[in-house]
Amino acid sequence: MTMPRIMFGGDYNPEQWPEEVWAEDMRLMTEAGVSLVSVGIFAWSRVEPRPGEYDFDWFDRVMDNLAEAGIGASLATMTASPPPWLSRRHPEVLPERADGTRLWPGARQHYCPSSPIYREYATRLVEQVATRYANHPALRLWHVGNEYGCHVRACYCDVSAADFRRWLQERYGDIETLNAAWSTTFWSQRYADWDEIMPPRTAPTFGNPAQELDFARFSDAAIRACYLAERDILRQITPHVPVTTNFIGLAHKPIDSFRWAAEQDVVSLDSYPDPFEPWAHVAAAFGYDLVRSARSGQPWLLMEQAPSAVNWRERNAPKPPGLMRLWSWQAVAQGADAVLFFQWRQSVGGAEKFHSAMVPHGGARTRTHQEIRALGRELAGAAELAGTRVRADVAVLHDWENWWALESDAHPATLDLLETHLVHYWPLFDAGLTCDVVPPTADLAGYRLVVVPNLYLMSAATADALRRYVSAGGHLVVSFFTGIVDEHDRVHPGGYPAPLRDVLGLRIDEFWPLPEGATVELDHAGRRWTGTVWSEWLDVEGAEVVATFAAGPATHPLAAELAGRPAVTRHRYGDGVAWYLATRPEPALMRELLDRAAAEAGVAPVLPGLPDHVQAVVRHGADRAYLFLLNHGAEAVTVPVPTPAVNLLGDRERPVTEVTLPPRGVAVLRTETAG
Ligand code: GLA
Repeated sequence: MTMPRIMFGGDYNPEQWPEEVWAEDMRLMTEAGVSLVSVGIFAWSRVEPRPGEYDFDWFDRVMDNLAEAGIGASLATMTASPPPWLSRRHPEVLPERADGTRLWPGARQHYCPSSPIYREYATRLVEQVATRYANHPALRLWHVGNEYGCHVRACYCDVSAADFRRWLQERYGDIETLNAAWSTTFWSQRYADWDEIMPPRTAPTFGNPAQELDFARFSDAAIRACYLAERDILRQITPHVPVTTNFIGLAHKPIDSFRWAAEQDVVSLDSYPDPFEPWAHVAAAFGYDLVRSARSGQPWLLMEQAPSAVNWRERNAPKPPGLMRLWSWQAVAQGADAVLFFQWRQSVGGAEKFHSAMVPHGGARTRTHQEIRALGRELAGAAELAGTRVRADVAVLHDWENWWALESDAHPATLDLLETHLVHYWPLFDAGLTCDVVPPTADLAGYRLVVVPNLYLMSAATADALRRYVSAGGHLVVSFFTGIVDEHDRVHPGGYPAPLRDVLGLRIDEFWPLPEGATVELDHAGRRWTGTVWSEWLDVEGAEVVATFAAGPATHPLAAELAGRPAVTRHRYGDGVAWYLATRPEPALMRELLDRAAAEAGVAPVLPGLPDHVQAVVRHGADRAYLFLLNHGAEAVTVPVPTPAVNLLGDRERPVTEVTLPPRGVAVLRTETAG
């Protein structure tokens, strides 16, 4: 699907307001250049006040007002927060935690994803909504549910237990296959019958990791089934209207965005970087690269962000002047075709009344609203960006199944996959390299450099894909604790990482993780550096040693015993090169190693010599390219531009050969290309 322009707007919840306010909403939206709003997300209890009794008249007026104002509706299926009558009538729809705590109504998302009753009432409502608004002129997009898996990541109730058994039977066919996959002879866990199997509820100590991994897979599938049930109805009634559901943050652990993306027409993301966090934009960038990659580079929608502060952190920072604009343009630079906010008008009651909004409590005269209007004007003037695409030479591999398995208990050390990703992504970002974030099943042939952080769970198919990639000339960087187990969390025996030893040219016999906060010194290129988190007993089998562990004042005494042994290696394999990191190098060394790997792979930065804290990204059109320059730093910088270009956010009459960006400044430079 293609947007006619970069869409601009937000969540619109008119049901919180008397109708007199709606006319002002339409006037202010028009003045601000709003083109798309998400409506109806939390409207279930208003449109179906009693089971089967519908009241859509007021919502018709909302939709009509939007159509009249020329504003599109990203129309919700209204199923995100069931009305009180549903759980009163059917208490069994309420979800349960692993310890048996029932989650009661009073907030939102209080339903068990496996509940046939929830699904029945939800799909019945979707049919009503879809039929009623199928041909409404305001309808542009379906917004199914809302942030699936946000509050209820999994449900452990008896209904879910039965659904889990059904799912397992489908996956394994017979109980002996499951016993083998789950290694159930360990700790006397052998099952004789399907009915003996439970979700991994709170147990005396570490649960069975294969059972937990399958439960994570199942929970994702159960939540996805809710989405699919609604999506299928929409496809049937309105095949002409695209469907999305909003993902969360840089990546949300319970929801496998890669699998979900294949079931949508366009992907959308809610992003709430913390303005107190100086590097929030780097983490956000990772999320934007991931969501864009989830549908192979197709433009995505920034479905929600905060105009200023959120209300759900311990301390909630406002966005100072210019930051909302900068972060909005960052999303566009990284491939978004919509910039939407939560929410249009700030609530006066309810749990989110201190969350900022496009129209704050102080009204249209506020700083935030004035910045919103200015952004609306800018985006309206940049319609030509819609549909253009970002291209990347570098891929970072991310896999949800690995995430679930890697972070399970009783491992050599506790590892946090998102943190690990950012440790690898950050130097690539700083070097001005554009990255995709792709699943191991992606076609890697188009990338010059592939970075694999902690891919602990590795199927034989993934190992083969990586082998083929390197053998055909690809450059691969692999970090420790990769290629350790198969899809059932069973170790690949024969020296770690058995499935990749030939590609990496090495063998690891033992992991030597470092204590919390400890470091190990490293020798590289005649200098001393440090590593953290991990070290290991590694023997090369053909690989060249690039850095070694060293003893020194900063080295933890136990790790000192590894002095002289390999810490970073490089191996030529087929026509390509495979690097291995047996520790987490300090940021400067990580940057140096990745710079070398990228240079050898022939990857060039978007702009050479980019000043610090300036992000550069290109979106490509048919015969034009748009270079985005974003100054995330606190100092003004001047950036030379390779060929004279028009700044879409500046004086369009005068092409420029350099731009000066104040702190939080943005430029979008258009150049004509051969295509
Ligand atoms: C999420 C939800 C919204 C709202 C915002 C507040 O993104 O989808 O309904 O709660 O958070 O930040």
